[in-house]
Amino acid sequence: MQLHDRTILITGASSGIGRCVAERLAGERNRLIISARRDRELQAVARQVRERGGQCLALAADALDESAAAAVVARAAEHFGRIDAALLNIGEGPAYHMGKASAADIRRCMRLNYDVTVNYLAPLIAHMKEHGGGLIAHTNSLAGLLGVPMQGPYSAAKAAVHVLFDTCRTELRRERIRFVCTYPGFIATERVAGDGIPAPFEISPERCAAYIIRAMERETRDAPFPWRTAWLTRLLRLLPKPLAGRAMLGFAPADYG
Ligand SMILES: NC(=O)c1ccc[n+]([C@@H]2O[C@H](COP(=O)([O-])OP(=O)(O)OC[C@H]3O[C@@H](n4cnc5c(N)ncnc54)[C@H](OP(=O)(O)O)[C@@H]3O)[C@@H](O)[C@H]2O)c1
Repeated sequence: MQLHDRTILITGASSGIGRCVAERLAGERNRLIISARRDRELQAVARQVRERGGQCLALAADALDESAAAAVVARAAEHFGRIDAALLNIGEGPAYHMGKASAADIRRCMRLNYDVTVNYLAPLIAHMKEHGGGLIAHTNSLAGLLGVPMQGPYSAAKAAVHVLFDTCRTELRRERIRFVCTYPGFIATERVAGDGIPAPFEISPERCAAYIIRAMERETRDAPFPWRTAWLTRLLRLLPKPLAGRAMLGFAPADYG
């Protein structure tokens, strides 16, 4: 799907990767619906999009609230008629050592990454079924392909989304709804600056946005990037698990655990 002259919903667009994707898609005569909780930041992104020639509807909403997410999809559909594509980008990966994390910490991570995605996914599928198809993409993570030290709950939540997307792809093929999972490596957004987690082969959010848009346009089912971190991840998945675990601990900070 060429992301030109399309109606595209981007969740988590007030900062970081989502913001960069919105700004990059602005100049292509696209109609964007952007969403996140912080209204002031969202309005600033909307101004940028309009200055670059795109149309933009900014809707502040908390994705943890199922009815608020459904209302964003409904408002977008009412305003623009239909939604052609969506990037479900909301997520957060607080660092937890599994020797210290409580059950509540782990569930919280699931809410911050899984619930915020499915609260948009379900109404979007219903909308696209009614309108003859569309494209739904997700900002997953290479951490969703492995049990990464200090990122266990985050890895598990992202893995849950990619498995769910696999089923969606199979079950909704006839409805012409396509699903794209993108798996960024380390991205230098403000959120992760100074979080203490080593970030080999880190790339800028602007480069990350370019990778995501390319994966959406090519409708790549699973798009891991950048290539160095993607290959490292592939290698770790091929190794026997105890060996892979020890190798990953090699990247852990000195005060780990
Ligand atoms: N940075 C990395 O190294 C990296 C690597 C791989 C994958 N990722 C993934 O990339 C995505 C974006 O991350 P980022 O690094 O760009 O961080 P970010 O700047 O914090 O972006 C997260 C976005 O989600 C929004 N958000 C968070 N919770 C929300 C909620 N409950 N309801 C509505 N909006 C919410 C935030 O806006 P508000 O606070 O205004 O709501 C913000 O716009 C995440 O899914 C993350 O897991 C990041």
